Amino acid sequence: MCCCECEGGNRVTLQRKLKLGANISGVGNSMSLWRHPEVANDASVNLDYYKQQALKAESGKLDFVFIADGLYINEKSNPHFLNRFEPLTILSALGAVTSQIGLVATLSTSYSEPFTVARQFSSLDHISGGRAGWNVVTSPLEGSANNFGKGEHPSHALRYQIADEYVQVVKGLWDSWEDDAFVRDKESGVFFDPDKLHTLNHKGRFFSIQGPLNIGRSRQGHPVVFQAGSSESGRDLAARTAEAVYTAHETIEEAKLFYQDIKRRAAAYGRNPEQILILPGINPVIGRTQEEAERKYQEVADLVTIESALDYLGRYFEHHDFSQYPLDEAFPELGDLGTNSFRATTDRIKAEAKELNLTLRQAALRAATPRGDFHGTPEAIADLVEAWFREEAADGFVIRTTIPKALDDFVNLVVPILQERGIYRTEYEADTLRGNLGIAIPVNRYAKETVNN
Ligand SMILES: Cc1cc2nc3c(=O)[nH]c(=O)nc-3n(C[C@H](O)[C@H](O)[C@H](O)COP(=O)(O)O)c2cc1C
Repeated sequence: MCCCECEGGNRVTLQRKLKLGANISGVGNSMSLWRHPEVANDASVNLDYYKQQALKAESGKLDFVFIADGLYINEKSNPHFLNRFEPLTILSALGAVTSQIGLVATLSTSYSEPFTVARQFSSLDHISGGRAGWNVVTSPLEGSANNFGKGEHPSHALRYQIADEYVQVVKGLWDSWEDDAFVRDKESGVFFDPDKLHTLNHKGRFFSIQGPLNIGRSRQGHPVVFQAGSSESGRDLAARTAEAVYTAHETIEEAKLFYQDIKRRAAAYGRNPEQILILPGINPVIGRTQEEAERKYQEVADLVTIESALDYLGRYFEHHDFSQYPLDEAFPELGDLGTNSFRATTDRIKAEAKELNLTLRQAALRAATPRGDFHGTPEAIADLVEAWFREEAADGFVIRTTIPKALDDFVNLVVPILQERGIYRTEYEADTLRGNLGIAIPVNRYAKETVNN
């Protein structure tokens, strides 16, 4: 496959450039990766490991590192979830040892306060010189409510309604100060221009927030907003408010439908569909041969016990106890279970179990050892990345680690091929996350008013 498209016999380089992020997740998202001899068993709370991974990602000119998060654990949770860094805290540390890569933190709109969150992300954007991103999630797990003294866990629909107003409030607070509001003139004693200070005075269904925010507009204007829900409400929130969508798909066909759907929804909201990037997560397993890649995958898959696979599956369904069902009979009928947590994921697990006639054992192992297509030689993986990108199934990818050294292998072996083919940068275009992603800086809403009047 080549980097170019043919036009009148000439090869022309694509304008669209691939985007790449690295999801750094300590001992990994699986139940058993921590047991592998090549994995540091304390990686989830090991600053040196996070630094090494961030610097590796930056050496490959990746757009961003990404930190996922959750707010409820029990003894059946994945080892990484039991003992891990809080995203904004670790990214503040990584901001100090990197200089160009973006820093995207997951933070829930169901269990936090917009004023604090606006401040925290703006601070990270200032600290990093314009590299912050916020992955907006709504917290799927019911148990989260018990950690915040907030009574009942809001329903799936309500969580998304809250999230919608929440993001609008945060964006409003980020506009509290116009870009040149701070004059800081020692001579005259003028610290700021009062005409460029704006008080939000938001009174909505869920939030009453006065403002202004006690930190000025950061270099990106607004940190980049990511979103990671794939249900109908999740897609709608993304289309209205997000600039990048982190998603999960098993096949290119499924990914294309999702891609078209989000772009169409964004256009229907009057947005430029190019200003919302679709970034599926992939689990690359790279070998010198296809057989070596399969061996690497199997080595990790073999560490997963059926008991831990049932726990892994159970978490998506509010930590449902799957050990009560026979393992080798049809996947159990679960009714609505799961629709109030990871809805898009649980809908998919149920549908696949039915379509493929899976037993409970098969469904649990399938969920706990996700395979995907991205297994093989560096060239084969680069071919797939290019095909998904070229066929508009993705604007880029988030690299996840499900085998040891997955990110190192991707950066060392696949990125150079993508660069060679001209679909990936060899140098950063900018030193802000927006600049590299090609996402415009939002004009301050008040400055816009002045221009228009
Ligand atoms: C690829 C991907 C990554 C996600 N990462 C997180 C995360 O780090 N923290 C979290 O609370 N939820 C995460 N979620 C869950 C979603 O934010 C959402 O709460 C959940 O999927 C339910 O919404 P949905 O039914 O719209 O998908 C993720 C979902 C996907 C698909």
